[in-house]
Amino acid sequence: MTGSVITVAQQKGGSGKTTVAANLAMGFRAAGKTVALVDIDPQGSLGRWFMSRLESGMACEGMDFTTSSAWGIPYECRKLSETHDIVLVDTPPKADSDLRPALRVADLVVVPVSMSHVDIWATEGVLDLARRENKAALLVMNRARSGTRLNAKVTEAARALDAQLAKACLGNRVIYAEALGEGKGANEGPGGPAREEVAALTAEVDALL
Ligand SMILES: Nc1ncnc2c1ncn2[C@@H]1O[C@H](COP(=O)(O)OP(=O)(O)OP(=O)(O)O)[C@@H](O)[C@H]1O
Ligand SMILES: [Mg+2]
Repeated sequence: MTGSVITVAQQKGGSGKTTVAANLAMGFRAAGKTVALVDIDPQGSLGRWFMSRLESGMACEGMDFTTSSAWGIPYECRKLSETHDIVLVDTPPKADSDLRPALRVADLVVVPVSMSHVDIWATEGVLDLARRENKAALLVMNRARSGTRLNAKVTEAARALDAQLAKACLGNRVIYAEALGEGKGANEGPGGPAREEVAALTAEVDALL
């Protein structure tokens, strides 16, 4: 087996990297794929999420978690992609040379952009690094508030950036914050818009692999 590596990166802190990584993991699990998670962020949020999941007895079959140093990531990803369909890498809020190995090993770089102009301004850095590694990047609008002027303006600014913009986006919903703290995906609760958003984003990402 040679699985695909998805690196989630964005210089701006709090843009939704860990939220997107955790929800893509559960989106791919719901689609029947095996998933390995690798956290290279010293904050360790994705690890906390996975441990909450383990400790509360939720299903973890077909999932694995590990941490890695920034420089050790190519080795970890190559190893994990031999045994998993999808390897998801969560990164710290930085766009510097430390991020390069995680971009180099990626089949796709997913860049969450929270609904603010500050997030747009911060996005060029990671897109530039991805470009230098010849990697395709997918921008994903997060904390979307459909129907607002801010939403329209920030989405338009994202469209002007030199990267593909995902059709799917994640809305600004309490369920995303709640699920992250409980070791869940937002698609694991009762059916609702978040479940559809996670499925749509997963399908779109999958189609690019
Ligand atoms: N779509 C959303 N709706 C509501 N809350 C969200 C959404 N996405 C993220 N959040 C919340 O925003 C905060 C930051 O999200 P998250 O930790 O995923 O960002 P991050 O980019 O990984 O941050 P860091 O740069 O610190 O690693 C968290 O409290 C999370 O629950
Ligand atoms: Mg994070």
